[in-house]
Amino acid sequence: MTSGEQASHRAFLDRYYRLTHHVYDVSRRYFLFGRDGVLDRLLASDWTTLVELGPGTGRNLARLHRRRPDAALGGLEASEVMRAHAARRCPWARIQPGFAEDGDIGAVLGVPPQRILMSYCLSMFTDPDRAIGNARRHLAPGGELWVVDFADLAGLPSGPRRAMRRFLAAFHVEAVPDELLDRHGASHVGHGPLRYFVVARFTA
Ligand SMILES: C[S@@+](CC[C@H](N)C(=O)[O-])C[C@H]1O[C@@H](n2cnc3c(N)ncnc32)[C@H](O)[C@@H]1O
Repeated sequence: MTSGEQASHRAFLDRYYRLTHHVYDVSRRYFLFGRDGVLDRLLASDWTTLVELGPGTGRNLARLHRRRPDAALGGLEASEVMRAHAARRCPWARIQPGFAEDGDIGAVLGVPPQRILMSYCLSMFTDPDRAIGNARRHLAPGGELWVVDFADLAGLPSGPRRAMRRFLAAFHVEAVPDELLDRHGASHVGHGPLRYFVVARFTA
């Protein structure tokens, strides 16, 4: 990803989120499924440091903070509009500007995080392979990367499936194929109802 491609991706994100960030959480409740299940699974193990890539409005970080107030939480966010919004909402978190594909994730909290979260952002990244590789490289020893995102929607009838895919493509979103997760050696891959979403875990 060249710096020109990064600049144009950021410009797209900022244009899009400048218009939508006020209503983002309310509207996304109806189609970003599986996020709370992944937060529950994250909170089922012991860790004290977590970085979310593409934290958006900070919705997931806020929920994690409520349930684990002593943990050090951070984010790496490509859109300046979203970064500023999340920083206002989550003053206790360190939310840095940067791209998942090549950002210095270890610098966000000053230590390699024990957990990294990608929630509905892998499907938006311009280079998902690089982003997974970059995240795994930055994990603390024994750490875990968790992904939740759109899957192939194979359980939907073909008409609604095609319509949903067109809708997602209009926002530069592409369903995450299992093949991508398998190629990177995910230690767990599971799907939500109708294969609407996928949850994957990677180890360091
Ligand atoms: C659909 S939103 C999801 C927000 C949040 N993770 C959630 O679950 O509500 C995707 C987020 O990823 C960010 N993003 C997109 N591409 C990115 C990249 N290459 N690096 C870092 N963040 C990126 C977007 O700006 C946006 O905030």
